[in-house]
Amino acid sequence: MKQFPSTFLWGAASSGPQSEGSFNKPHDSVMDAWFKKRPEDFFDRVGPDIASDSYHHYDSDFEQMKECGFNSYRTSIQWARLIRNLETGEADEDGVQYYRNLIQSAKAHGIRLIINLHHFDLPEELLETYGGWTNRHVVDLYVSYAKTAFELFGKDVDLWTTFNEPMVIPECGYLDGIHWPKYKQRGKDAVQIMYHLNLASSLAIQEYRRQNHSGKIGIILNLTPAYPRSNDPADLQASAFVEDFYNRFFLDPAVYGTFPRRLCSLLEEQGVLFSSSESDTAVFKNNTVDFLGINYYHPRRVKARETPLIKGEWTPAQYFEDYEKPGIRINPYRGWEIYPEALYEIAHTIQTEYGNLPWYVSENGMGVEDELRFADEAGIIHDHYRINFYNEHLAQLHRAIEEGSACFGFHAWTSVDCWSWNNAYKNRYGFISVDLKTQARTIKDSGRWFHQLATTGVLEDDS
Ligand code: BG6
Repeated sequence: MKQFPSTFLWGAASSGPQSEGSFNKPHDSVMDAWFKKRPEDFFDRVGPDIASDSYHHYDSDFEQMKECGFNSYRTSIQWARLIRNLETGEADEDGVQYYRNLIQSAKAHGIRLIINLHHFDLPEELLETYGGWTNRHVVDLYVSYAKTAFELFGKDVDLWTTFNEPMVIPECGYLDGIHWPKYKQRGKDAVQIMYHLNLASSLAIQEYRRQNHSGKIGIILNLTPAYPRSNDPADLQASAFVEDFYNRFFLDPAVYGTFPRRLCSLLEEQGVLFSSSESDTAVFKNNTVDFLGINYYHPRRVKARETPLIKGEWTPAQYFEDYEKPGIRINPYRGWEIYPEALYEIAHTIQTEYGNLPWYVSENGMGVEDELRFADEAGIIHDHYRINFYNEHLAQLHRAIEEGSACFGFHAWTSVDCWSWNNAYKNRYGFISVDLKTQARTIKDSGRWFHQLATTGVLEDDS
């Protein structure tokens, strides 16, 4: 039996664009626009327009989250919903009312909210007009949005995060070509975007503190630990590059207000270092996070590049290749490796290299296709695979906490099954299933299991 701290946050995460539906939004986000332009990119042509309709169901959803034992929940405000005038940061009345109601409902249900400001969902006009995050002006617009959000809700919400997985924006949109605008290998743009996202986060933190709120503010990062194929220096170098580029380029500025030196020298030498202003250095230094949220799903196995790239623009892909280690466990629906030990290692890294900063697991979970095959006549899904997945990850987390890691919570992905980029509703992650035709919700076995865990703080060895 493993006992977690009594103050632990237990719950799950979701995001505005994946759960609310697009009702009454004054603007489209890049995801809304992507679906309108290319519905065939999404599994079964299901878009974010209705999603799980939490716009109308948030109250009963909190009710069911309570039944699953939640004491906390993270979602995000949609910039495209809250802000009517993107240049001035003026709020939209309906958006304000919606988020106000959501916050009140969470409070009435005894659920502590963590509100995130950006979950890949840039308002489309800012991509069209300014080229999105490549343009520094968009950083300023994001800060006016954050200012409005803090002014409106800063008294009622005491935990904020500036971004969810900022690395996904350049990685999927400008390097791998899988998220809108679907560019491939635009390395220089990706580097500039990474810099601007870090800057936007620090400036939002500065604004939050300027308003003198009593809560705390952090950032949510997807840490994907890189493991080299071998101890061969070329493999070690490849994995060190991946670690710096994909993880530490966000971790270092968030915690220390600096960028990884080794990587910056390489970018400079290659002529692709980001452009910056002199005054930024102080902004980064003075506005580091209070806490980190870490999303962990899978590790990354890397080796030195073996197949040369066709000569072209600078790209991080020239320094490594992904490789599939023989014998690893894979979630076949998502294609992600299952490796719970890495969660312990992440905790250890934060403890030993990042000043044992307070942090929590802000996402962890397992997406499974066609889950209805595991449902009984009452429609209850018996998802023992998900319970096993969480058990294994929580055991590693518990080990780290026993060794002194300052982890203060565990949020699963997700509460109610939600929509996703590309995969739409193909893989289900929730503790609560949703019928897309009727929007009826049913708690899965994992939700009942989580209730027991969250309300006792005890992870049974054989649960
Ligand atoms: C995280 C994101 O990376 O993974 C979520 O923060 C996402 O938005 C989740 O839904 C699961 O990934 P996917 O692609 O299977 O939905």
